[in-house]
Amino acid sequence: MTTFKNFIGGKWVPSKTGKTFPNRNPADQREIIGEFPASDARDVHQAVAAAKEAFDGWRRTPAPKRGELILKVGDILTRRKEEIAKAMTREMGKVLKETRGDVQEGIDTAVVHGSEGRRLHGFSAPSELPHKVGWTVRAPIGVAGLITPWNFPLAIPTWKSFPALVAGNTIVLKPASDTPHSSHLLVEAFEEAGVPSGVVNLVHGSGSVAGNAIVEHPDVRIISFTGSTAVGRQISATAGKALKRVSLELGGKNAQIVMDDADLELAVDGVLWGAFGTTGQRCTATSRLILHKPIHDEFVRRLIGRAATLKIGSGLDPGTDVGPLINPSRVEAVDDYVEIGKKEGELILGGEPLRDGKLKHGCFYAPTVFDGVAPTARIAREEIFGPVLSILTVKDLDEAVRCLNDTAYGLSSSIYTRDVNNAFTAMQELETGIVYVNAPTIGAECHYPFGGTKDTGNGHREGGTHPVYDVFTEWKTIYVDYSGRLQKAQIDNRKSE
Ligand code: UN1
Repeated sequence: MTTFKNFIGGKWVPSKTGKTFPNRNPADQREIIGEFPASDARDVHQAVAAAKEAFDGWRRTPAPKRGELILKVGDILTRRKEEIAKAMTREMGKVLKETRGDVQEGIDTAVVHGSEGRRLHGFSAPSELPHKVGWTVRAPIGVAGLITPWNFPLAIPTWKSFPALVAGNTIVLKPASDTPHSSHLLVEAFEEAGVPSGVVNLVHGSGSVAGNAIVEHPDVRIISFTGSTAVGRQISATAGKALKRVSLELGGKNAQIVMDDADLELAVDGVLWGAFGTTGQRCTATSRLILHKPIHDEFVRRLIGRAATLKIGSGLDPGTDVGPLINPSRVEAVDDYVEIGKKEGELILGGEPLRDGKLKHGCFYAPTVFDGVAPTARIAREEIFGPVLSILTVKDLDEAVRCLNDTAYGLSSSIYTRDVNNAFTAMQELETGIVYVNAPTIGAECHYPFGGTKDTGNGHREGGTHPVYDVFTEWKTIYVDYSGRLQKAQIDNRKSE
């Protein structure tokens, strides 16, 4: 049994607590991947102190050089892609083709941010006064605390760490305790690439202890968190008091609309992937299907026909379409929602944990579909984070748009239609941060902004370049007056008034 360590100040060290927690395979709970340090505030303090000490050296390293380190990490991830993907399936459960995609997203993110080291654009604009110039630069902030989820165990830590580092910040990464191994492998790649001591620190442990200690630490100036809306609110309240920069990527209740003019088979492909890919455990998962009434019966018939053939099992088996949920308590939480759903709609597929044969020791749940769900139903409003799809029926596009927008969240949305007027109306009216036309609610690419409106976050975006650097930098405006005299802005060029 391997006992893993934290990475602090360039060294692999055990937690000061002397305690560890097991990392289990969700497809077979008997299998333990390793023991990971159950860190507390003392470990976090040590990591933050190391990051703080390394900050001056790192912020003075030219940004193109910082970018080169990220490109090197990307090369190492490329070399180790298959090994990391397999390790990720073992600890997280999603099927191998998806974990390969997760690692690839990390590699793509390295390309974007590694090369951003050679841009990191500010802007200049002409001054209103003669012999005076002004321009802006992006300045690093300090120590960034990155608290990451278990559903994208490599991609999301790269979304946060790569731009944070290219911007010149140093980091303390606290990955979800369900998937610590993927972050361990990422930090191994940083180490191999030659990251200076203290620039990247990794602390394992629970959110309530280690995560909280990061949020509360006065020397952590930026918090970037992906997780539940409930935890996001607490982080925002705590960090807000200390005036920290906080970027939150929270829940979703994403919907796919299918109009009567859509390519129905394409729309079935989309909803199957959107609702049951990653076993529904994506912030961008499709959990509502909004059907235009004229195609309702035909669409449901095709959807159920296809969904019933999905193969459930270990993500390492090549034939598997849908892997397990992340842990036993998530199986219970999903099952609780299904019980609620049975009173709110008509259960037409699945609706139970799967415990037979090879699935016996895993956290498996049947792909589940409810029809006849009202927009007011809890299963139509609350994030379930599992393979549960609710079908709502509408009479026209207007009602479809209202129904899709009638939620506390605003991450991703999708419309299937061949009518250009319907498509453009949806693009304008849907209130989500991401809108797909003739594609499912999942499939974000790392060089576009990623994030949502309303309770999905606090207005920041990950991904892209400008949006994420607005999280990880301060704008610094520089003026140079080479007139040799005192010039007064707003006053001197209005002397005639
Ligand atoms: C998430 O939904 O938790 O949209 C992240 C996708 C991914 C990222 C999703 N590339 O498919």
